[in-house]
Amino acid sequence: MRPFQMNKLYNMFPWLMQLLPGPHKKLITLWQRVTDFVREKVNEHRADYDQSSLRDYIDCFLAEMEKHKDDTAAGFDVENLCMCTLDLFVAGTETTSTTLYWGLLYMIKYPEIQAKVQQEIDAVVGSSRQPSGSDRDNMPYTNAVIHEIQRMGNIIPLNVVRTTSEDTRIEKYSIPKGTLVIGSLTSVLFDESEWETPHSFNPGHFLDAEGKFRRRDAFLPFSLGKRVCLGEQLARMELFLFFTSVLQRFTFSPPAGVEPSLDFKMGFTRCPKPYKLCAVPR
Ligand code: HEM
Repeated sequence: MRPFQMNKLYNMFPWLMQLLPGPHKKLITLWQRVTDFVREKVNEHRADYDQSSLRDYIDCFLAEMEKHKDDTAAGFDVENLCMCTLDLFVAGTETTSTTLYWGLLYMIKYPEIQAKVQQEIDAVVGSSRQPSGSDRDNMPYTNAVIHEIQRMGNIIPLNVVRTTSEDTRIEKYSIPKGTLVIGSLTSVLFDESEWETPHSFNPGHFLDAEGKFRRRDAFLPFSLGKRVCLGEQLARMELFLFFTSVLQRFTFSPPAGVEPSLDFKMGFTRCPKPYKLCAVPR
C-alpha cells in the first residue's frame, strides 16, 4: 500500500493504525521532530524576549500573547504560536519548490519557449547583475510563462479543505454549519469557457495582441476570498527570482534521447515524477 493511502487509513482509524507498522509511523516521527524543533525555537525566544526590540514573527506573536493574556479565546497561546510557525513552513516550502519543478520540466519540454524567456532576460537584465523584483513589469513574456507554469502545474487541485463556520446558502444550495467543503481549483484553471487552449501549455493565455501581460480572472492557483493564500505575494516574488536567476545562468535540456514526461504524483501537492535534466552553463 502506498504511503498516501496509509495516511488516509490513519486519519480514519487512528487508534488501530497506531498499533500497526507502516510508513505512517515514519511520518509521525518526522513530524514530531519538526514540531520539537519549533518548540525549542519558541522557548529560546521566550528566554531572551525583549518587548522593545521585536526580532521576528515569533517575537511579534509573543507580544500579542502579552497583550491578550486575559482573553483566552483570542487564540494567542504557545501551542498556537508553534502551529502557526509550522504553517508558514508547511505552506511555504513545498508549494514553491513543486512549482519550480514544473517550471524546469516545461522548459525542457518546450525549448523554444525557454529560448524566448532567455532572450527577454538578456534584453532586460543582461548577464552582469542578478534579476530583481522590479524587472518583472518589464518582462511580460517571462511573467506569462510563470503564470502558465502555475496554471498547468495545478499543484493544489482540490484547494485546502475548509468547513463552514455557519449555515450558508450559495444560490440554490444550502450548506449546514460544520460541512467539509472541498473547492476544485482544477475546474477553474482548466475551464473550457475561460481559456483558449485549456489543456495545452500556452503562455499566450497571459499576453494581449501587443505582447503585453494580461491578467485572467480564472487564474486562481492561490485561491481567492477571505482564506486566499497568505503567502501569494512572497511566492510570486520567489518564483520570479528563482526562475529568472537559473535561466539567466543555465540552459536546461532533457538527457539525450529522453522525451520529458508530464507524469505526476499526488501528495501534499501535485508534483512531477522525479526527472533528469542537463544544466548547461550559458
Ligand atoms: C506557488 C506557491 C503557493 C501556492 C500555489 C499556494 C496556494 C495556496 C492555496 C490554494 C491556499 C488555500 C486557500 C484557500 O483555502 O482558499 C493557500 C493557503 C495558505 N498559504 Fe499558500 N501557496 C503558495 C505559497 C505560499 C507561501 C510562500 C506561503 C508563506 C510563507 C504560504 C502560506 C499560506 C498560508 C499560511 C495559507 C493558509 C491561509 C489561511 O488559512 O487563511 N503559501 N496557499
